[in-house]
Amino acid sequence: MIIHGGKPLHGTVPVSGSKNTALPILIAALLTDEPVRLTNVPRLRDVTTTLGLLTGLGAEARWTGDNEVVVHARKICSHVAPYELVKTMRASFLVLGPLLAREGRARVSTPGGCAIGARPVNLHIGGIRALGAKIQFRHGYVEAHAPELKGGRVWLDNPSVGATENIMMAAARASGITQIENAAREPEIVHLAAMLSAMGARIRGAGTHVIEIEGVARLRGCEHQIATDRIEAGSLMVAAAITGGDVAITDAPLEYLEAVTTKLGEAGVLIEAGEGQVRVRRGANLRPVELRTLPYPGFPTDLQAQMMALLTQATGTSVITETIFENRFMHAQELIRMGGDIVMKGPTAVVRGPSRLQGAPVMATDLRASMSLILAGLAAENTTEIGRVYHLDRGYEALEKKLKSLGAQIERVPE
Ligand code: EPZ
Repeated sequence: MIIHGGKPLHGTVPVSGSKNTALPILIAALLTDEPVRLTNVPRLRDVTTTLGLLTGLGAEARWTGDNEVVVHARKICSHVAPYELVKTMRASFLVLGPLLAREGRARVSTPGGCAIGARPVNLHIGGIRALGAKIQFRHGYVEAHAPELKGGRVWLDNPSVGATENIMMAAARASGITQIENAAREPEIVHLAAMLSAMGARIRGAGTHVIEIEGVARLRGCEHQIATDRIEAGSLMVAAAITGGDVAITDAPLEYLEAVTTKLGEAGVLIEAGEGQVRVRRGANLRPVELRTLPYPGFPTDLQAQMMALLTQATGTSVITETIFENRFMHAQELIRMGGDIVMKGPTAVVRGPSRLQGAPVMATDLRASMSLILAGLAAENTTEIGRVYHLDRGYEALEKKLKSLGAQIERVPE
């Protein structure tokens, strides 16, 4: 991606459907032999990867419109989620619960580490075992058997989003009551529970720390509209602020962005909520902030990299602490190469500003780091070249088209 920076962004831009909402909901369609129709599905690499995964398991899974998907798992003819798929997309591990609930067995590759950390699955395994599954680890795969899943009580050491989703999907068709304590409270959990309920599941407490699921024997097909993406919305807010622009963002799920809009406000970003849109401008001077990423409703780790780019422009010293992943500062090195003044010590990064960002050739390492480099490029003088932007295509739909419509000079060229 080639960006000629220094242009304030102006105009109106829509937020697409949420990747982290869509992926578990697509996989939940395995829990029924009836068709599931999803709308407002974002056109992302990870969604297409998931359709491939579902097809490999025997389901029909295809795009039926620009942002519409039908998944019909009439029958399951394979119980294997292979390494090459799970390695590229960790969310594939979420097929474990549904396959066990539907078929009583599953062979799912463990995801292994990724750029941002070790990404263990022990909380998924512990929860599924609590429902009566027998689980072994062989040759890098989880081999699970459960002739019948029975409701049980699960305590999550930390409120893992994926573990909460995997266990919730398994419990939806287990016999009896399951309680998940210290469950993740992310909006993605609430959306998954809403879709499962539309299929006939009995779930209470989604969005709180205790979720209770009463298993049912059958789940029906359903129609569901994917909620808009809170992380994309936050990223677009930063784009308006870092370029000193004035942008109206439509369909932003503001009710899920309290921690983000509060922190941006502290940093001197002007945010005005209107009818179905939010207007974002940079105030006179950006101010430094203290930022800690936390489980929802705290500040989301998926917006930490974007905030770091913004805070290089604040007048003063900011402190960012990443508490969710152990290696999520890779973008910092590249921001430093562009002129950012950032010093890291373990889970903490100290950002001094304002720095004049200069365009430079940089490399994306993971999805949200890519966005942070795009944002820095938009603010930097002259030209920034970002390599390996395939990371970006995993989680942002038509990003350069959206930014171009706001006046950014951004082009995608063959690497
Ligand atoms: C989801 O990942 C999101 N992905 C991530 O977004 C997001 O950063 C993360 O939640 C935290 O909010 C999707 O929803 C597809 P976790 P997930 O399980 O479920 C540890 C993006 O950029 N942990 O809540 O994998 C884990 O190592 C992606 O869109 C265990 O120790 O996250 C991490 O430190 C990146 N054992 C912490 O918990 C487990 O069994 C949070 O992980 C599971 C997780």
